[in-house]
Amino acid sequence: MQQRALGRTGRSVSAIGLGTWQLGADWGAVTEEDATAVLAASVDEGVTLFDTADVYGDGRSESIIGRFLAARPGHGITVATKMGRRLAQEPENYSPENFRAWTDRSRANLGVDTLDLVQLHCPPTAVIEDDATFDALDALVAGGAIAAYGVSVETTAQALAAIARPNVTNVQIIFNPFRLKPLDEVLPAAEAAGVAIFARVPLASGLLSGRYTATTTFASDDHRTYNRHGEAFDRGETFSGVDFETGVAAAAELAAALPDGVSLPAATLAWIASRPGVTSVIPGARNVRQAESNAAAAALLEGGFDLAAFDRAVRDVYDRDLRAAIHPHW
Ligand SMILES: NC(=O)c1ccc[n+]([C@@H]2O[C@H](COP(=O)([O-])OP(=O)(O)OC[C@H]3O[C@@H](n4cnc5c(N)ncnc54)[C@H](OP(=O)(O)O)[C@@H]3O)[C@@H](O)[C@H]2O)c1
Repeated sequence: MQQRALGRTGRSVSAIGLGTWQLGADWGAVTEEDATAVLAASVDEGVTLFDTADVYGDGRSESIIGRFLAARPGHGITVATKMGRRLAQEPENYSPENFRAWTDRSRANLGVDTLDLVQLHCPPTAVIEDDATFDALDALVAGGAIAAYGVSVETTAQALAAIARPNVTNVQIIFNPFRLKPLDEVLPAAEAAGVAIFARVPLASGLLSGRYTATTTFASDDHRTYNRHGEAFDRGETFSGVDFETGVAAAAELAAALPDGVSLPAATLAWIASRPGVTSVIPGARNVRQAESNAAAAALLEGGFDLAAFDRAVRDVYDRDLRAAIHPHW
């Protein structure tokens, strides 16, 4: 597994990491035993980055990771958590007092004195534009509660504003074959600034697994049921903002462009990880099989797979089926 520099921290993280929203809530039930097995399978395949958040299962995802890592001293894993989504999305809630309380809670959940990396969890734009936000985050670093910070964002404009901040370690943004806008400005700007990019929702919430049909349904406690049209949170998040039937058809077109023996999710993860400026791709996995095959997709970066040909197919399908509906929004 390729390991890549995490911004200017001196740490490195795997080209393919693990998203752990699934291990908290919102994707149907996952037992702690299964969640722990997903973490172990990922680490065994070379994954050294877990992405979590204080709000995933209201601390469940963080706590499961904390218990897992406590049993593996010297593990070399970087845990990137997030804060800010347990309160209403009002700029005044992003205060130094709340930052302290939120990071204290995450430190307890993860069982560490110093958090490796804390990302603001898609805050309002005003928070990213306010110098006081970054002064407060710098103070947390100086005080030793966190080692580094970043910003998870919804739009490319927010990403560019965060990249311009001098002490931001990473920006997390949706980037996948159905969401190409970060290629235009965000990835070049991040690379030039030495800011790491984490590509989230890389499989468009599973659409890019290629196994859904127009009639596929999800559990009632799965956001792919209750946020399909943005009813609960940002419309751009679930299925990365793509109309479900359009996404099923576009995934089938991409799958048809692949050689035998290369799966659509593997090709997708390798294509994302191979774009200049991307540090790590963080697919979510609901079981060990998914975790193993996602990590193993890193092997496609080492040759034997025609990434340029897949890149042409990605751009063709995007331009034809998706650009008009997606590009202007995020
Ligand atoms: N605002 C934010 O900062 C934010 C928002 C969203 C996500 N995230 C982070 O990004 C991570 C990744 O995004 P995501 O989990 O939303 O979406 P994703 O990675 O695009 O999709 C995950 C889903 O894809 C399917 N899948 C995964 N691996 C597969 C494989 N090998 N074969 C077939 N299907 C596979 C599974 O669907 P099934 O469930 O149908 O099996 C899984 O639940 C999250 O876990 C979280 O850490 C952050």
